[in-house]
Order: sequence, then structure tokens, then C-alpha cells
Amino acid sequence: MDIATTTVVETRRLSRHFGRIRAVDEVNLQVRAGETYGLLGPNGCGKTTLIRLLVGLLRPTTGEAIVLAKTVPNKDILSQVGYMTQAEAIYQDLTVLENLRFFGSIYGVDSTSRFHEVLGLVELAERANSVVATLSGGMRRRVSLACAMLHNPMLLFLDEPTVGVDPELRVSFRDHFRRLNEQGVTIVVSSHVMDEAEHCHRLGLMRNGRILAEGSASELRQRTRTSTLEEAYLALARGINELA
Ligand SMILES: Nc1ncnc2c1ncn2[C@@H]1O[C@H](COP(=O)(O)OP(=O)(O)OP(=O)(O)O)[C@@H](O)[C@H]1O
Ligand SMILES: [Mg+2]
Repeated sequence: MDIATTTVVETRRLSRHFGRIRAVDEVNLQVRAGETYGLLGPNGCGKTTLIRLLVGLLRPTTGEAIVLAKTVPNKDILSQVGYMTQAEAIYQDLTVLENLRFFGSIYGVDSTSRFHEVLGLVELAERANSVVATLSGGMRRRVSLACAMLHNPMLLFLDEPTVGVDPELRVSFRDHFRRLNEQGVTIVVSSHVMDEAEHCHRLGLMRNGRILAEGSASELRQRTRTSTLEEAYLALARGINELA
């Protein structure tokens, strides 16, 4: 497989409307194997809806999404996809290890050493037997991430994975994501924090359900002659307003 050029996620004029709200509006996206692609934009711009469409949890209103060479929704891809939701989807009344065993049973992972390996990655080895409800918010995010990575998926969707996670661990997450990329794993990550985006190979800046601009953080700054991504975003959003 030619890692550099294989398209893992492609959307064609993908839209999802909720009544009058165009949560995702004619998005054309291409994500390549082994890259981290960041969806970046303010609250309500459509990041979670786009990810849910790509995972196959929502059906498009119009357009289509092709993920791992299949038009989604398609249950055949699920064993190769990991999804860390924005709202925690882990069981609060189970322990950390029980959650891993539960998600492992869905994905056919029944390896105690793998459970402990992912707990090590999110630095929660010592809390394996804690009931999730008794963990801190950041620790719960880390359990969610461990569950999403458990089955070694080749494509990971991470919806705001670092919210509530401390800076030190954020750096170690990033290092881990980069190692996954080097192994060919593709990561689509959403954030509304511009700093986080610096570490993505490419970004899609979203606004009102649309992708305003795409490129690496430095390309986007150069294109807008700005020195921070935040300024680049504002400049691009202003440009769209002026055209409207
Ligand atoms: N199930 C739903 N029913 C109705 N409206 C919805 C639904 N899901 C999302 N929306 C609307 O679609 C728009 C996009 O929401 P979405 O959750 O995708 O945004 P987001 O970029 O993930 O925001 P945030 O940064 O707050 O997580 C919002 O206006 C939201 O209210
Ligand atoms: Mg969201």
C-alpha cells in the first residue's frame, strides 16, 4: 500500500441537515493514509456531525462518504475504525478494566496484556480497578481513548480528545498519535482549540458546516499573512463574510 497517496476518507458534497440547520454543508474532504487531519472550528460548526457521518452513525441528507474504500454506513469497516466520542460513551458504574473488557468483547479483543498496554498508554495502569464514576474528568477522557484504541484500528476518529486532559499528558498523546501515524494509522481529530491544531499534518477549518480552507497550520498562516492560526481563521472567516 502506498501510504503517502492512499485516500482513506473521501467525501463528495456531503451534507447533513437537521430541519433548517445545515450542520454539514457540501463538504469535500480527502484524508490520506498515515496522516493526522484536524477538523477545527467553533462550537456548532459541524465537527461532531461530520465525524458521525464518517463513522456511519448518521446518514447523509445528500452526498456521500467513502471510508476505507466503502460507502458508509457500512458495518464491514467497523472492526478497523476506532471512535472516541465527544460525550463519554463508557460505563460509569463499571471499573476501568471492566469497560475495556466490555469494549474488547465487541471488537473481539480478549487479551489482558492488550488491556494493560492501552492503560499504560493513557497512564492509567494504577486505576485499572477504579469505578469510572470515581475518576476525574480528564481520567475518564483517557479511559474513552483507551477503549477507542483497544482493537488497534487503522483509522481513528477522535472528537475533542484532549479536552480536560493536562498539558503533560496531551504531549504524550500527541507523541503516541505520531507513532501511530508512522505505522500507517490515519487519525481524524476535532478541536476548537487552535493550539492543538499545530500538530496535525493538515487541517480543515470549518464554519457553518463548510470547510473554509485546508492546509497545514503554516500554510494557512502564510496564505493569510498572519502569525497565529487564530488570526488565520478569523481572516478566512472575514473573507467569506465579505464575499457573502
Ligand atoms: N441530532 C441533532 N438534532 C438537531 N440538531 C443537531 C443535531 N446534532 C447536531 N445538531 C446541530 O448541528 C449543528 C452542528 O453541531 P455539531 O455538534 O456537529 O457541532 P460541533 O462543531 O461538534 O460543536 P462543538 O464544538 O460544540 O462540539 C449545531 O447547530 C447543532 O445544534
Ligand atoms: Mg462537537
